[in-house]
Amino acid sequence: MDINDIKTIAVIGAGNMGHQVSLHAAISGFNTVCTDVNAETLAKAEKFVETYLAGRVEKQKLTQAQADAAKANIRFTGDLRDAVSDADYVIEAAVENLELKRKIFGDLDKLSPPNTILATNSSAIVSSKIADATSRPEKVINLHFFNPALVMKLVEVVQGPHVSEETLQISMDLCRALNKEPVHLKKEVEGFLLNRILVALWKEANWLQEMGVASIEDIDKACVFGAGHPMGPFRLQDLTGIDLVYFMAMQAFRNSGDQADLPAPSLVEHYAKGEFGEKSGKGWYDYANNKQ
Ligand code: 3HC
Repeated sequence: MDINDIKTIAVIGAGNMGHQVSLHAAISGFNTVCTDVNAETLAKAEKFVETYLAGRVEKQKLTQAQADAAKANIRFTGDLRDAVSDADYVIEAAVENLELKRKIFGDLDKLSPPNTILATNSSAIVSSKIADATSRPEKVINLHFFNPALVMKLVEVVQGPHVSEETLQISMDLCRALNKEPVHLKKEVEGFLLNRILVALWKEANWLQEMGVASIEDIDKACVFGAGHPMGPFRLQDLTGIDLVYFMAMQAFRNSGDQADLPAPSLVEHYAKGEFGEKSGKGWYDYANNKQ
């Protein structure tokens, strides 16, 4: 089996990451099916396809013919069996819950063809914690996209000890076919590459504002104008999702046992109030009217 055998991609989850990963696959020419257990999330993702493609045509980033082809390449379904029964490659992008992912992968194993590769887009959970929920551990791999997935070129491809060379190769080639830049992690590590770096950055930024050294606006400015970051750490946390940032910080704390890794109190407060950033209308910044 090689990349030429990958014609149909199924994406499990139409949330923050899933809706963009699936649309990106469709734009890149793959027959794509996106599924979600939540009908409202699915409907929102379907609507996004319309508005996004129309916007790309208006901006002259896609021709009308390319937009029409992308639209024809993607479909949405609430039925997992329907989504994966013809899939050659599955990308799971459900919420970050190990037990849920193990259940999903058990179902994927039963419902998809035996050759299908089953990837997880998890931000933090290594695939060796999921692979044994299937009868094909050698075909279970981490394929980690970044937000917004239609834009960010990086994909982390993590080769756990159970992953076959064939699965790795096809996954790396798939990223290239999606016009992404894959990086190969030769071993599993919690948080992978970039999130470990971002968690360290966010931890420092959060404590600096917690100590009253500078405002979130000025800390963001420092990173944008002094280090050339496209957006500062607080804007980026709001884009990533405060719920996910909290989850990653707690994961870092559990791994190290070091209290210095605990999330800053103001981050915990946003999390507890459900202020998850852009997606909930408020996080470090307020998005009620416009992005700041
Ligand atoms: N969805 C789709 N496309 C988007 C978008 C979105 N949410 N936001 C911006 N874009 C596109 C625009 O359409 C535009 O495309 P074009 O140039 O082809 O027309 C392009 O991105 C630039 O957009 P803007 O000019 O409006 O804005 P910026 O130049 O400020 O770029 C940004 C926005 C791309 C988000 C940029 O600020 C950036 O790169 N930020 C850093 C993002 C980042 O670090 N992501 C990683 C997060 S961590 C993560 O994902 C890990 C995971 O495990 C949680």
